[in-house]
Amino acid sequence: MATQVAIIGAGPAGLLLGQLLHAYGIDNIILERKDRDYVLARIRAGVLEQGTVGLLEEVGVAERLHREGLIHDGIELAFGGERHRIDMKKATRGKTVTIYGQTEVTRDLMDARDKAQLKIVYDAEDVSLHDFGSDRPRVRYAKDGVSHEIACDFIAGCDGFHGVSRQSVKADAIKVFERVYPFGWLGILSETPPVSPELIYANHERGFALCSMRSHTRSRYYVQCSLDDHVDQWSDDKFWDELKRRLDPEAVDHLVTGPSIEKSIAPLRSFVAEPMRFGRLFLAGDAAHIVPPTGAKGLNLAASDVHYLATALREFYGEKSSAGIDDYSRRALTRVWKAERFSWWMTSILHRFPDTDAFSARIQNAELNYLVSSNAATAALSENYVGLPY
Ligand code: APR
Ligand code: PHB
Repeated sequence: MATQVAIIGAGPAGLLLGQLLHAYGIDNIILERKDRDYVLARIRAGVLEQGTVGLLEEVGVAERLHREGLIHDGIELAFGGERHRIDMKKATRGKTVTIYGQTEVTRDLMDARDKAQLKIVYDAEDVSLHDFGSDRPRVRYAKDGVSHEIACDFIAGCDGFHGVSRQSVKADAIKVFERVYPFGWLGILSETPPVSPELIYANHERGFALCSMRSHTRSRYYVQCSLDDHVDQWSDDKFWDELKRRLDPEAVDHLVTGPSIEKSIAPLRSFVAEPMRFGRLFLAGDAAHIVPPTGAKGLNLAASDVHYLATALREFYGEKSSAGIDDYSRRALTRVWKAERFSWWMTSILHRFPDTDAFSARIQNAELNYLVSSNAATAALSENYVGLPY
């Protein structure tokens, strides 16, 4: 079997890359180690930057997004028992974010790929990458006990943090930067109306809390928890009680509780691998970087990576120019590090750290007070949250 680009991973990065390459007339195949339902069952953040929406529009996969997605002009920061609205649309002269679950983005991309009858192999086992230092790389995998080999021009490693692609690079050819946070997020999904029209990010002495949503009838809530916690220790009632302790009185009055339809604990990490290109292998999305979810950047960074990569590959095939692929890593990492900084900063001002002493708590409070009282600080938060330009 042969193709121009072999894509490893059918998450948002791999699927969006596949559709962009198809739009540019570049043949590609996706190898995914899980089945379709498993990929769709993963619950992830659902805040889309306008750039991400634009890419989905470019590949004709934005119809349901525009029908069902919620446009948000702002967010609220809660601290000191009060809520403060950040008018991001005003601060960025018109930019907004769209609330639309990552699961739905993935579903729409999968449906589009199937409709176009593009090649995707689910349950692909033992994927291995070969000769990506040459101009004839190959990918091997097994399916139903049969081994296969794909000859290709390029390999796109879109296989996430635990994927095989980054692990296939020699240790001395890659440098990693990491910060593991000393807490986790306990998240709950419930068929209940959101507590407020926009997202609420709360800094409380008991810990961070976030009120988010998937639609007008489905809500997503998080509370900061210990890394020693196990989800079985958290009954729904215990979760709702803790959430109420961290919210302002008005939010508590409006909170509609209900049975969890999903509940899980996720660790928080900042991670970047440099570079993002190794000969004919390119890393994109979580395969190359991880952000704490506080800034809702994970999906959006996957989108900007594959925008840069697809544009570079179009240039390679269309104009016989290697300029784009040679510049891919630098260009992608420039935007990745700005999102890493923003995500780290949002996490640092909103969470209680083990070493958050009285002084640190006052500094956090001063940071938050400055944020909500300064147009310049509000604009800085807003332009990062809605998404920096590509
Ligand atoms: N072979 C084939 N597929 C693999 C392999 C492998 N060895 N290892 C992992 N995969 C698949 C996973 O099953 C998953 O479907 O690669 C896909 C990677 O998808 P994501 O982890 O979602 O990563 P990405 O597409 O970069 O999207 C980033 O997803 O995890 C969230 O918070 C993250 O919002 C961000 C977004
Ligand atoms: C979510 O809805 O899951 C969500 C929203 C915003 C974040 C993180 C998660 O910053």
